[in-house]
Amino acid sequence: MGRVSRRHLLAGGALTAGGAVAGAAAASLGRERDAPVTAVTAPLAHGTRTVPFHGAHQAGIDTPAQAHAAFLAFDLSARVDRAALGRLMRLLTDDAARLTQGRPALADTEPELAALPARLTVTFGFGPGLFAAAGLDARRPRSVAPLPAFAIDRLQERWSGGDLLIQVCADDPLTVTHTQRMLLKDTLAFARPRWTQRGFRRGRGSQDDGVTQRNVMGQLDGTRNPRPGSPEFDGAVWVDSGPSWLRGGTTLVVRRIRAEMETWDAVDTAGKEFAVGRRLDTGAPLSGGREHDPPDYAATNELGLTVIPETSHIARAHVNDDRQRIFRRPYNYDEPPGPDGRPDMGLVFAAYQRDVGEQFLPIQRNLAEADLMNDWITPIGSAVFAVPPGCAEGGWIGETLLG
Ligand code: HEM
Repeated sequence: MGRVSRRHLLAGGALTAGGAVAGAAAASLGRERDAPVTAVTAPLAHGTRTVPFHGAHQAGIDTPAQAHAAFLAFDLSARVDRAALGRLMRLLTDDAARLTQGRPALADTEPELAALPARLTVTFGFGPGLFAAAGLDARRPRSVAPLPAFAIDRLQERWSGGDLLIQVCADDPLTVTHTQRMLLKDTLAFARPRWTQRGFRRGRGSQDDGVTQRNVMGQLDGTRNPRPGSPEFDGAVWVDSGPSWLRGGTTLVVRRIRAEMETWDAVDTAGKEFAVGRRLDTGAPLSGGREHDPPDYAATNELGLTVIPETSHIARAHVNDDRQRIFRRPYNYDEPPGPDGRPDMGLVFAAYQRDVGEQFLPIQRNLAEADLMNDWITPIGSAVFAVPPGCAEGGWIGETLLG
């Protein structure tokens, strides 16, 4: 029966020979189909992996960055008040909890697509307008507001602001798409989409987990970043004082930063390394050593100049106080080139920190003032959100503010 072709079976040829034959043929077919599947099923390990949804903190922040992301920002409709926001967040929480665990959303129209969560996480953020809509402006952290303008900014409305943010991350792009669509449907009666930014990192399995990845500019990006789970990370990211509703939460800045690839391509390796303060090949600081060795900002060359330029990106972005660090969780973007062939790519730069005013702003100010990299990177979008703490099973994200 091994030779009975699927086509022949479907055409009815063997089926007419009787149930036994058909049964044996079907079994044989099953074996034939099973055989190569053994090799193909190995990657399913990625597809079926889940990240817990419930907990003290929302997932998708200290979760090792998944390969794909969508950042969705919404404007709330005029009539949406605190009670309506509560209904919306209950709905969104319920569907996010289901989807992240590989179960269909409540009204899932393609439930089969929910079967491979691929480490799906859904993270919610509240923009300044949400507090106003809920009549809770007094409880908005002061720096959850549009960032001040910087001279380097070329911000576009279409990538900026937003009352509600949903960050969807997974190791599979179809999972991101499905989740995005299900959650978008939930919001339709309450809000309309303001902007959507898709982003990507290396495909899962292309490299060992935990190694620093390269961004679209070719740089190792993420070397000096607080390590999730470390005291440094906890102190920099999770809110531990201030408004009680936000304890265990954090804040998020999303900047869309265009990489000026054509002019960047024209720079030689030494120029590129000078701009960042690190080697391109190994990511080691220009003062020597290996990638994770501390940079020596005081080291000088034979001309008496600092080896790591004072205006290099790492020299300007560096802070000494661990509480002032930010946690960068950026994604690359790559849109179709324009008719002139010019690339449209860069970073969806997502940074988490306890307090935007105390941590993100001083670093951004330092960079805007004098960072050699400014010649090749242009902020074109900007948005700030408070990220509520996580919730227990049966609870919902935002209940500490809106409940
Ligand atoms: C397209 C935009 C950007 C690119 C391509 C970029 C690239 C890099 C690279 C290659 C490094 C060195 C390796 C590392 O430690 O990760 C770095 C470090 C860093 N960047 Fe950026 N960056 C960008 C924007 C920003 C922005 C907007 C901020 C904050 C406002 C920022 C903050 C930092 C910090 C804090 C470090 C670590 C500095 C240290 O050594 O302590 N970066 N970035």
